[in-house]
Amino acid sequence: MYCAMHCTSFVFFFFFFFLISSTLWEPQWALEENTQELELEFLSRELLKSAREPEFFEWMRGVRRRIHQYPELGFQEQATSQLVRSELDSLGIQYTWPVAETGIVASIGSGSEPVFALRADMDALPLQELVEWEFKSKIDGKMHACGHDSHVAMLLGAAKLLHNKKDELKGTIKLVFQPGEEGYAGAYHMLQHPGALDDLDGIFFIHVLPSYPTGVIASRPGTILAGAGLFSVTIRGKGRHAATPHHNRDPILAAAFTILSLQQIVSRETNPLEARVVTVGFIEGGKAGNVIPEYVKFGGTYRSLTSEGLSYIQERIKEVVQLQAAVHRCDAEVEFMEKTPLPYPVVVNNEALYEHAKKVGETLLGEQNVQLLPVTMGSEDFGFFSQKIPAAVFVLGIKNESLKSGQALHSPFFFVDEEALPIGAALNAAVAISYLENNIVDPTY
Ligand SMILES: *[C@@H]1O[C@H](CO)[C@@H](O)[C@H](O)[C@H]1NC(C)=O
Ligand SMILES: [Zn+2]
Ligand SMILES: [Zn+2]
Repeated sequence: MYCAMHCTSFVFFFFFFFLISSTLWEPQWALEENTQELELEFLSRELLKSAREPEFFEWMRGVRRRIHQYPELGFQEQATSQLVRSELDSLGIQYTWPVAETGIVASIGSGSEPVFALRADMDALPLQELVEWEFKSKIDGKMHACGHDSHVAMLLGAAKLLHNKKDELKGTIKLVFQPGEEGYAGAYHMLQHPGALDDLDGIFFIHVLPSYPTGVIASRPGTILAGAGLFSVTIRGKGRHAATPHHNRDPILAAAFTILSLQQIVSRETNPLEARVVTVGFIEGGKAGNVIPEYVKFGGTYRSLTSEGLSYIQERIKEVVQLQAAVHRCDAEVEFMEKTPLPYPVVVNNEALYEHAKKVGETLLGEQNVQLLPVTMGSEDFGFFSQKIPAAVFVLGIKNESLKSGQALHSPFFFVDEEALPIGAALNAAVAISYLENNIVDPTY
């Protein structure tokens, strides 16, 4: 009893001593950090609350559903672009258009540095939607199966949130509505537009991902997605009757050997601890069992997590195809679609920007809801941005069992839990506002 009393008062004494001393001697930077954290918490809570207001949410969901019903492929996003511009007009936000045909760059804030960008891609896929619901795609053979409709809606949501705070912004926020992500290198073409995006200090992008539940976001520092290119091959031989192989040059056999040899670029020439891919995804040649055809075409994709890896594979694909064709007395042409331009560069998250967005995400959603995303061999033309300026991409969970919104990207059954839209809008806005406030410009770029 005595001891307990004694110990208790002892503990109390120390506790008060600690309390007093910590208030008196807490260094200035620690106070500033606390204030920043409190401000961020206040800011993100306020943004999320606004984006979840019924009127705000229904507007954003309506935008997403209209885009979903009228999907447009790369560089054909005329109606989507029109919709974005009319929403920006009614919000009273200035923009430049066209930037790379259908692209738009809107601008909010002081007009001076630093300049931070938020990006959404706008194109759909050549895919027939198989989900039966009220707002199903009305265009046969086209579908927003990668969620770019929701990216546009979230960026317009962020536009509205940011516009409400335009006088408090400590710099400029540019909103990048980009055409042609799905194989058209729209990001590259926007970056070529003189003056549109030359002044960016950083860029942030949110992609929906059905493998995480709604309310969860994920990302990782450094390399996050592969660089990827396409190739196509034509092997020419000499066609004739199948009964006289000695008079022919068989492109089918040459193609078969060539495709097998291409598999050894990864299995025999790549460090097993390094990730690379060579996939042949199509092959066409011949029509009859008793005819040796004139030519065979095939093609596929190659991927790597480094740009050196990409150029190595490209070089070797060319050599292997030409030499294997020659073994079989055939000629070969290899095409890498470099004018598109391909390959897409590796996507690398800038560490400082990643840390910043992670902190904002943790404040917005709770620490347990910000997860570490594994590297995958998928690709994104966001790599054209990350190659040039500090960039970060985060994925936004949209999975909800009762809505069956756990279907993979590019699936005809892909479905978005629209409850994720306000989260994406608030995260976009909070990352941008606090970026300007904390002045996270990376001097190494
Ligand atoms: C899933 O969606 C339904 C319908 O919108 C909603 O009632 C439910 O709360 C959601 N579940 C989760 C875990 O978010
Ligand atoms: Zn996609
Ligand atoms: Zn996508």
